[in-house]
Amino acid sequence: MVDNFRLAEIPLGWYTVATSKEVKPGQVLPVKYFGQELILYRTETGEARLVDAYCPHMGAHLAHGKVQGDTLRCSFHGFEFGGDGRCVRTGYGKAVPRKAKLGTWPIREHNGFVFAWYHPERTQPDWDIPVLPGPKEGWTNFRTRQISVKSHPQETSENSVDVGHFVEVHGFGDSWYNGDLEVEGHLLKNAYGIDYLGGKLSLICNFRVEVHGLGYSLVRVNTPRFDANFNLLILSSPVDEDNVILRTAVSVRNWGPRPWTLFVREAASFGLNKEVGEDAPIWEAKRYVEKPILAEGDGPIAEYRRYCKQFYAQPAVTAKLPVVAA
Ligand code: FES
Ligand SMILES: [Fe+2]
Repeated sequence: MVDNFRLAEIPLGWYTVATSKEVKPGQVLPVKYFGQELILYRTETGEARLVDAYCPHMGAHLAHGKVQGDTLRCSFHGFEFGGDGRCVRTGYGKAVPRKAKLGTWPIREHNGFVFAWYHPERTQPDWDIPVLPGPKEGWTNFRTRQISVKSHPQETSENSVDVGHFVEVHGFGDSWYNGDLEVEGHLLKNAYGIDYLGGKLSLICNFRVEVHGLGYSLVRVNTPRFDANFNLLILSSPVDEDNVILRTAVSVRNWGPRPWTLFVREAASFGLNKEVGEDAPIWEAKRYVEKPILAEGDGPIAEYRRYCKQFYAQPAVTAKLPVVAA
C-alpha cells in the first residue's frame, strides 16, 4: 500500500505518558513517545520523573536501572542521577564528571495521569493543563482505556470539532451546535449537543469541549434527563510521527448509590472507547487534506486548523507526498 499523506511534525504540548498506577514507587518503566526511548520512574518517596533512556556515561539503556532512594542508578557502572538529571555519584566512589547529565522532561501528575511537555527544542512549558475534580469534590476517579492508532494528534483531536461525522460514523440520532467556537491562545472551546438515540426515545447530551493543545481534549457532558455529569478525556500521545496511543478516560459526578455511579462510569467508558474504535479505521486509512472542500453542515474545521498552527515550531507540512489540493 502507498504510504498515506501524513502530518510530518510532532506538535508541541502536553501528552499523557502513563497512568499514575502504571509506575509505582521504586519502579522503572521504559516508554516510547515523541520518536524517542524514554524512562519513566518513581522515586521511593513517590515523585514521578521522565528522562532520556540512554545513560550519558557509556550509553546503557536505563530500563535496566534501579531506583535508589531519590536517584536512578545505571546498572552498567553505577552512575546515579538526581531529579535535575545531574550525576550525583559514580559506582567508583570518585569524582563525578561534570558533563554527565541525563536529559529530563517536564512533567505534571494529577487526576491519575502522568503528563509530559513535548517541545522539539525541549523548552519549558508555556501553559498548564487543568486539574479536574476527583473523589474529594464528589467525582469518581478516571476510568481509562487505550488503543494504538496509526495516526497523528492533530487528526484525532479534529474529531472534537467534526460534528459532521457523528451521525454517519457513530450512528447518533442527531447533532447540532450550541454556540461558536472560541480560541484563547492554546485553548479552543466548542459546544454541541447530541441526541444519542433519536426519534421518540431521544437521549440528549450537551457537550462543552476544551482542547488544551492536541494531546489533551476535555469534554464536559451533561445529560439533563438524568441530571448526570461526566468529564471525558481524549488523550492522544504521539509514539512517533505516524502513531499515537489514544487513551479515553471517564469521570462521573456522584450519581445515586456508589454502585450506580460506577455502573454509569463503566457504561460511558465503554461507549467512548467504542466510538474511538469506530473512528480508528478511518484515521488509519485516511490522508491529510490540507485544504478540504468544506460544506454547509461541516463543523468549524477551518478555525480548528488555524488554531493548530501555533503548535508547530515550523509551519505544518505534509510528509512524503505532495499535498492534495482542494
Ligand atoms: S553506562 Fe551508565 S554508568 Fe556507565
Ligand atoms: Fe468520532
